[in-house]
Amino acid sequence: MIAPIETTLAGLRARTTAWRKAGETIGVVPTMGALHQGHLSLARAARDTCDRVIVTIFVNPKQFNNPEDLENYPRTEQDDAKKLESIGVDVIYVPDGAQMYPDGFATNVSVGGLTDMLCGAHRPGHFDGVATVVSKLFLQTSADKAFFGEKDYQQLQIVRRMAADLDIPIEVIGCPTIREIDGLAMSSRNLLLSDRARAKAAALPDVMEDMRVALAKGALMSDIVDVAKAKIIAAGFNDVEYLELRDSDQLKPLNKANANSRLFAAAWLAGVRLIDNVGVH
Ligand code: PAF
Repeated sequence: MIAPIETTLAGLRARTTAWRKAGETIGVVPTMGALHQGHLSLARAARDTCDRVIVTIFVNPKQFNNPEDLENYPRTEQDDAKKLESIGVDVIYVPDGAQMYPDGFATNVSVGGLTDMLCGAHRPGHFDGVATVVSKLFLQTSADKAFFGEKDYQQLQIVRRMAADLDIPIEVIGCPTIREIDGLAMSSRNLLLSDRARAKAAALPDVMEDMRVALAKGALMSDIVDVAKAKIIAAGFNDVEYLELRDSDQLKPLNKANANSRLFAAAWLAGVRLIDNVGVH
């Protein structure tokens, strides 16, 4: 059965209040739509561990620092609802802009430190937009658990920090990145790649996997990063925005892998920005 779509906060709250009265637990999967197997794996994880599951779909204007990027973001709401059919989601919450940011909206949630690096350094304001909308979604859904993909690992850490700092009583759960057969991390942005560009995209995870193996054997980032970047460019990418080894919690830069390190990358391919990360230990 296709899950009911709720567009108003009042309608959503009527449902969650009834669930709470019945003593049921609630899981939320925040998304911007254009759902793929990665999102569906999050909805399944919520289904497996919570009595009620809410998937939210909201293309959040506050986290786009480029108006063209916002305009081009894929919007496939009807298809999304169909994809969720087999999972047994209880409600799909699809608020509009006026519902989320009514006239006079003036609050900004800004997480310090973790937002200054990696994607944050290249997308000013992006993580403020994420933290603002996610804190609203947490409060609106009153969920017990929230499910996020590790593909957006920096986002996951920022959301964890925000929920802890604001005392929002929710458990933030990170779920593994789901990949295409050739290794490309699933992302709604992959839909924007032409067939030609798509054929080149797996060079990013391929190079990262080679780096992961070398780093796990003790190689230094400073010795391998330039060659790795050159390989990504030689495969047809236009630019490597960053390719960095960091610790998995505070995201502090590392030159050598430790028991808790992670390799992060962002690179541009034919006008599309792809990001990926992989644990290195
Ligand atoms: O990862 C996303 O799709 C978005 O950043 C999120 C968490 C739904 C907030 O808009």
